[in-house]
Amino acid sequence: MTATKGLEGIVATTSSISSIIDGVLTYRGINIDELAENATFEEVAYLLWYGKLPNQSELDGLIRQLGEFAPVPAEVIEQLKLYPKNSNSMAALRTAVSSLALYDAEANDMSPEVNVRKAIKLQAQLPTVIAAFARIRQGKDPIQPKSGVSVAYNFLYMLSGEEPSEVAVKALDQALVLHADHELNASTFAARVTVATLSDIYSGVTSAIGALKGPLHGGANEAVMVMLEEIGSLANVESYINDKLANKVKIMGFGHRVYKDGDPRAKHLMKMSRELGKQQNNLELYEMSVKIEELVTGQKGLKPNVDFYSASVYTTLGIARDLFTPIFAISRLSGWTAHILEQYENNRLIRPRAEYTGPANAKYIPIAER
Ligand code: ACO
Repeated sequence: MTATKGLEGIVATTSSISSIIDGVLTYRGINIDELAENATFEEVAYLLWYGKLPNQSELDGLIRQLGEFAPVPAEVIEQLKLYPKNSNSMAALRTAVSSLALYDAEANDMSPEVNVRKAIKLQAQLPTVIAAFARIRQGKDPIQPKSGVSVAYNFLYMLSGEEPSEVAVKALDQALVLHADHELNASTFAARVTVATLSDIYSGVTSAIGALKGPLHGGANEAVMVMLEEIGSLANVESYINDKLANKVKIMGFGHRVYKDGDPRAKHLMKMSRELGKQQNNLELYEMSVKIEELVTGQKGLKPNVDFYSASVYTTLGIARDLFTPIFAISRLSGWTAHILEQYENNRLIRPRAEYTGPANAKYIPIAER
């Protein structure tokens, strides 16, 4: 038995949800570029869950359900008020999602139609929880979600209490489309491992949130913003990046386990970053990001991943940086739950082996002799 570090190159399951073949990402066979240009996040979520694009009445039905499920139990809002105000927002989300299960009478019902309903419920409730916690920690009251609006609209509305601009809703919606699914990424794998024990969907999503939080995965978008803040201005980019590279420090938002020739999602976020910057007459973050890309790609051959330009996009939209990874979670929830449903459909316990590297033939030594 020989271990493959990080399971690199290991094909661990079959899946018909999304694929990365020769650097091309598809959801249910549709190229991500086409979806990014044309689809809404709700259409994409439907596509991931049901395996086909919705017609108008199916889409209307999903939006109606999302609206119905969006309010979260008052008990969960009360709990959010008890969390330390300086809690990491992904840690708060992880705890709150686990808690949502306690207030869902269907949490442990494993029938397929109930599992789909719980996926939609979680999709509706995640933005409500994140926005509520964001407001509570600022000493403000949470805002009740609206019904009949998009996930992107509702999230921005619940953060500020004001009608979001069309430009902001469109940008966030496109970002949600781009992050929705990504084959067997770390958090999706975590979700599948958890539910393959026939544990419930809330447990799977809680595991996934924990995995997404780390800076080598979803947490990288926040880490990119920390870096941009540390750099401070375009004039400082070159010395900062050269210093990091010389000291073999990883530059967040670059590199990828699967894409070696560039992440197909990054170009859409780069374009969005430029357009939003232009609209706000402030291209500083965009220009700093472009300069960082030039240096990192030039010197290391590493290309930006989905997280890199997300940082400047979300900041330009006025979103606090510790909400970046929770936004990723809002989007990826659609993919996680699609994978969870797929795992249930054709389940087998996921239980790989470990190559043992510890001592052999060791003996128990009584405590008095140690
Ligand atoms: N900056 C500098 N060097 C890097 C970077 C980076 N961002 N990424 C990889 N490298 C280097 C490594 O130091 C290593 O060099 P070495 O062989 O000289 O030691 C080599 O490239 C291979 O890197 P690994 O970390 O072994 O590659 P792996 O496939 O395990 O990791 C990962 C992929 C985790 C994404 C990595 O590129 C990384 O840490 N990037 C920064 C964090 C990040 O942006 N994560 C988000 C990924 S996308 C997503 O999850 C949404």
